Amino acid sequence: MTQKILVLPGDGIGPEITAQASRVLAACQARGLDVEVEEALVGGSAYDAHGEPLPAATLEKARGADAILLGAVGGPKWDTIEDLAKRPEKGLLGLRKNLGLFGNLRPAILYPQLADASSLKPEVVSGLDIMIVRELTGGIYFGQPRGIEERDGERVGFNTYVYAESEIERIGRVAFEMARKRHKKLCSVDKANVLEVTILWREVMERLAPEYPDVELSHLYVDNAAMQLVRAPKQFDVIVTGNMFGDILSDAAAMLTGSIGMLPSASLNESGQGMYEPCHGSAPDIAGQNVANPLATILSVAMMLRYSLNEPVLAERIEAAVGRVLDDGLRTADIASAGTRTVSTTEMGDAVLAAFEAQ
Ligand code: NAI
Ligand code: MG
Repeated sequence: MTQKILVLPGDGIGPEITAQASRVLAACQARGLDVEVEEALVGGSAYDAHGEPLPAATLEKARGADAILLGAVGGPKWDTIEDLAKRPEKGLLGLRKNLGLFGNLRPAILYPQLADASSLKPEVVSGLDIMIVRELTGGIYFGQPRGIEERDGERVGFNTYVYAESEIERIGRVAFEMARKRHKKLCSVDKANVLEVTILWREVMERLAPEYPDVELSHLYVDNAAMQLVRAPKQFDVIVTGNMFGDILSDAAAMLTGSIGMLPSASLNESGQGMYEPCHGSAPDIAGQNVANPLATILSVAMMLRYSLNEPVLAERIEAAVGRVLDDGLRTADIASAGTRTVSTTEMGDAVLAAFEAQ
């Protein structure tokens, strides 16, 4: 059956990088991928056209899509909008919330060609390939009550850290399944020595473990996990953690790989529908200059093929094409180094397409 893909270019460099990713998607269609591709507005571009960052028509199309490819949203142009609900970033949060995209997958892969871009020594990071599974719709970022109020003559800020067993279980299952498909090691990160929520978290992970006897489950406190990530990151295969710890650890892991311009992500819901996007933002400082790195968005298409469209072979083909282009020494400005050739966004797209076709 023909599957539906919705492309949401967004703002800033979003349209430039999604244009290159859409070309790769079209090349997959030419190779037999049976999909129908549609585009819609989100973020600041939607606000400019309709006065809303997430117009009802866009949300409707998103609900009906099997997978969504998003560029990025936001920029200084919209930072002065007084009504916070109308800011571009709310378009993205609205999509995540409305679609129930609780499972955030953020791979941190170091391409061998970019080893000198990492902040760590080559021997510590070479061959790095870890997957962080972050819970995205619960935890302290969403818990109620929250606020800042006056108590006993001073202001008090408070948030609520809460996870239901069912929320922990569903993200746990995503992580166990992921580990099963990879190197069969799952590390659950919590703070069970201090926080009750994560005592429950650890219990639920332990309860699931017998259902995945092929996966080796371990636990780390988040402070130690942060230390281990920079000390010896290759000890990890899959990491599963809650919203806030995952936010922080995945940014740290991202930096190990050198450039945010290389990192894709996926956010999945219970029915397997997914939204795929680069980890970076709309980069207003370089928007419209045809210099942005489109590889994170192109690699997001590969994740889409793997996790939503069940096309692992095409996914590998895209990843191999990216590797080939890096082998050839082509670099956008953000990943350029001595001895490489700096290319534009569109030239990078051309090169990936050519490498894809050549396979
Ligand atoms: P950013 O990720 O947009 O940019 C940070 C730095 O990385 C900038 O110097 C930028 O030029 C560079 N950069 C980012 N992506 C790049 C790429 N593909 N190629 C080359 N260089 C790249 O983060 P920043 O500056 O904090 O935020 C800018 C805007 O993006 C803000 O409005 C923010 O709210 C929004 N944002 C949107 C996100 C999303 O749509 N998922 C995520 C993060 C930020
Ligand atoms: Mg973050």
